[in-house]
Amino acid sequence: MTRRVTVEGVGGYLPARILTNKEMETIVDTTDEWIQERSGIEQRHIAAEGELTSDLGVEAAKNALEHAGIQPEEIDLIIVATTTPDLTFPSTAAIIQHKLGIKGGAAFDIQAVCTGFVYAISTAEKFLASGQFSKALVIGAETFSRILDWEDRSTCVLFGDGAGAMILSAEEANAPGSRGIMSSYLRCDGALTDLLYVDGGVSKTQTTGHVKMQGNKVFREAVAKISSAMEEAAKIADIDPKTIDWFVPHQANIRILKGVAKKLSLRPDQVVATIAKHGNTSAASIPLAFNVAVKDGRIKKGDLVMLEAMGGGLTWGAALLEY
Ligand code: UT7
Repeated sequence: MTRRVTVEGVGGYLPARILTNKEMETIVDTTDEWIQERSGIEQRHIAAEGELTSDLGVEAAKNALEHAGIQPEEIDLIIVATTTPDLTFPSTAAIIQHKLGIKGGAAFDIQAVCTGFVYAISTAEKFLASGQFSKALVIGAETFSRILDWEDRSTCVLFGDGAGAMILSAEEANAPGSRGIMSSYLRCDGALTDLLYVDGGVSKTQTTGHVKMQGNKVFREAVAKISSAMEEAAKIADIDPKTIDWFVPHQANIRILKGVAKKLSLRPDQVVATIAKHGNTSAASIPLAFNVAVKDGRIKKGDLVMLEAMGGGLTWGAALLEY
């Protein structure tokens, strides 16, 4: 039996505390003007003390389950894309499974930094299409504020905390409804690690470490790599990029979003941009933006949506789906 994998619901959660650019001016030598002009960010959300990545993920998951109209026990696969897990182990997915009261099925984390959500839905799609599982909860969740160097103005102004979730479900390919996930294209070039990494870790330093980024070099890689991944995803799905309705990109920089959209001849009003209010929430940014555009009525059933991301690794990728 051929199976296709469709999106049944989406959800998002942002911590209550908002850190504005103006407030950022009191933390590092920066200005609201510089941050907005160079990145498009106006504010970001920061998790409260004791509020963990799993807590953000659980709230986003509850929101998505409610949107899909399904009970937690129907989920038999949980994949969490995160770079900021609660603990070294168990996985944040295992912790979220327990917090949601789900018993049975499988749960694991995926680490592809900002590309994590694209890697995660691609992985979930393969498991569901093969028939091994039937309903997946895919989450992107981050407390990125915990790995920032709050004295490094070139990185700390860019990131924020949050979580987004998507419920994916497998059904017979000839059942009525949308075509669901049509293609994905994933890449990594480990030779570019030095451009964006965290300088600590379990094995190397036994510390958590802080984000280090050569922003302008990452920027230069971004537009070309992301555009080609989107073209490949469209080619695999046998879709003319001109027929794409919505572009839901990883929210790293408004200039990257606009540059990529232009390269694919997408109009600015087809780009779902949440970077101004969310900042860069790494693996959470795509599902958070997707959730916003579904809930405000922009993305409708049957719309063709392109997702893309690039992050540490460097990793990058794209996925095409009919909502
Ligand atoms: O999500 C993972 C993937 N990440 C990305 O895709 C991020 C890609 N990179 C970017 O988005 C941009 O490169 C940044 C927003 C990080 C930086 O923008 P830029 O236009 O590339 O600036 P720059 O790094 O070339 O820095 C320009 C200047 C420097 O000063 P000098 O050397 O020209 O005097 C920096 O020291 O801006 C300075 N600068 C700042 N000034 C005020 C760097 N950070 C700040 C700051 N406030 N926060």
